[in-house]
Amino acid sequence: SSYSQNIDDKFLQCLVKDSKATKSEFVFTQQHTKYSSVLQSSTINLRFSKTPKPLAIITPLTYSHIQSTILCSKTFKFRIRIRSGGHDYAGLSYTSHDHNQSPFVVLDLKELRSITIESNNNNTAWVESGATLGELYYWVSKQSKNLGFPAGVCPTVGIGGHISGGGFGVMIRKYGLAADNIVDARIIDVNGWVLDRKSMGEDLFWAIRGGGGGSFGVVVAWKVNLVHVPDKVTVFTLSKTLEQGGSNLFNKWQYVGHSLSQDLFIRVLIQPVLVENGKRTIQVVFNSMYLGTVDRLIKIATHSFPELGLQEKDCREMSWIESVMYFSGYYGESMDVLKDRKPEPRSYFNAKSDYVKEPIPKERLGELWKWCLEGDNPILIMEPHGGRMDEIEETSTPYPHRKGYLYNIQYYEKWDDGSNESLQKHVSWMRMMYENMTPYVSKNPRGAYVNYRDLDLGLNDNADNTSYLKAMQWGNKYFRDNFRRLAMVKGMVDPHNFFHFEQSIPPLVMSK
Ligand code: FDA
Repeated sequence: SSYSQNIDDKFLQCLVKDSKATKSEFVFTQQHTKYSSVLQSSTINLRFSKTPKPLAIITPLTYSHIQSTILCSKTFKFRIRIRSGGHDYAGLSYTSHDHNQSPFVVLDLKELRSITIESNNNNTAWVESGATLGELYYWVSKQSKNLGFPAGVCPTVGIGGHISGGGFGVMIRKYGLAADNIVDARIIDVNGWVLDRKSMGEDLFWAIRGGGGGSFGVVVAWKVNLVHVPDKVTVFTLSKTLEQGGSNLFNKWQYVGHSLSQDLFIRVLIQPVLVENGKRTIQVVFNSMYLGTVDRLIKIATHSFPELGLQEKDCREMSWIESVMYFSGYYGESMDVLKDRKPEPRSYFNAKSDYVKEPIPKERLGELWKWCLEGDNPILIMEPHGGRMDEIEETSTPYPHRKGYLYNIQYYEKWDDGSNESLQKHVSWMRMMYENMTPYVSKNPRGAYVNYRDLDLGLNDNADNTSYLKAMQWGNKYFRDNFRRLAMVKGMVDPHNFFHFEQSIPPLVMSK
């Protein structure tokens, strides 16, 4: 309508008022020919293509564009979705599941992605939030073959959301989470102020390192500690079907995966596969990186996990950056793919997460395999904790799943057709699996990983009615007792709940 057109125009005038750039350089309204391509550029889950769309996408070129987006959105009562890499599982960085459909704009940080490595100074780097993990890994490895960064596996994941939610990958047992390796940050808060660690204070600095993205302000850059990696690392992938003893090996892994040498990470992928005469069985895949050479790996594996029968021929020595390529499925291709920001393959997907504190009893594993076989195309990804994760206090960052947690489970299913039937089928399989797993996973509260965001766990009501008590349902699953401190920090930095969304941290304001 002309009324809303008028509002949009006024909002745009507000945005460009103070900035030197013209709006066509960083504002994409629904009329803009590039609106759809910019909106789709980093979305990986196709499920949310029909949900409400932003009035505009703003791709700031400078911090002042972010400041005016915040201030103008407040004036016009628009909401903001902050997007770095667009990999949020529920699409919360670019869509809204809000039934009142309050108007919102997407603040997409893809143009703010510089990476500055300060290797003479304790090996740190300033990384802007719009960079991807792949870009960071690429530039770090260019700097030195003995430097790396402990974060996730998929190169198109954005730095901004990933670090905000914790972030783990194949070096978790040696160096902990990505968020454990942050020494400073720059955030633009609800008042448009640019704050660093010193000016934001330790409470807010604590909250942004794992409390989940989007609740506290726009984190524009992170100062990361780069970590030492050896000249050579060793990788292997060993697969065993149930018929080949996969179940027993998995059982053994439950006891050793978290207690092996910190240099050794063995994750497990479980999925149905087709075998002869069209029969389906379960395949248990051991997917591993060792921070050292093959001969040492064989010694450790033979000593701590002899049942695996690991041999030299199963292993491959390579540089750390080659192992990044290996884990992301690009081994042998040009390193340049790490800088390719286009997420592929896009598909429809659904996921949930759990944590395991006691090995699942061996005699119950058969049930697990049976439930997996009932799925169309599921994969269970089990990532060991232990090592460095055991040494970090539960309260030292918002991520609470530390000592005593054996491994994380991600249940994941993807599919290609966009029909509602297909969606329903996959969603019901997932809910069945999750329900059935209840006795075997962490409880009171049942743990979940905020970076594998799951809206089934619960949702906020609208911004004026957000209830801390209601949010505890899902907040305690992601953060355990840290949820309360997160809500108090939110109460200090954003008491009016401007940065509100389906699973934002609700403000807890103490009355005197
Ligand atoms: P996106 O831009 O969608 O943001 C996610 C959330 O953070 C949103 O709520 C958003 O508003 C907020 N946010 C984003 N940028 C912000 C900023 N600058 N300031 C404040 N808030 C911000 N995880 C893991 O730990 N290990 C892994 O190996 C993988 N692998 C993996 C593979 C694939 C294919 C996917 C899709 C996802 C993963 N993940 C993962 C999960 C991933 O860590 C998680 O989805 C991150 O939140 C994604 O960060 P993006 O910046 O890409 O997301």
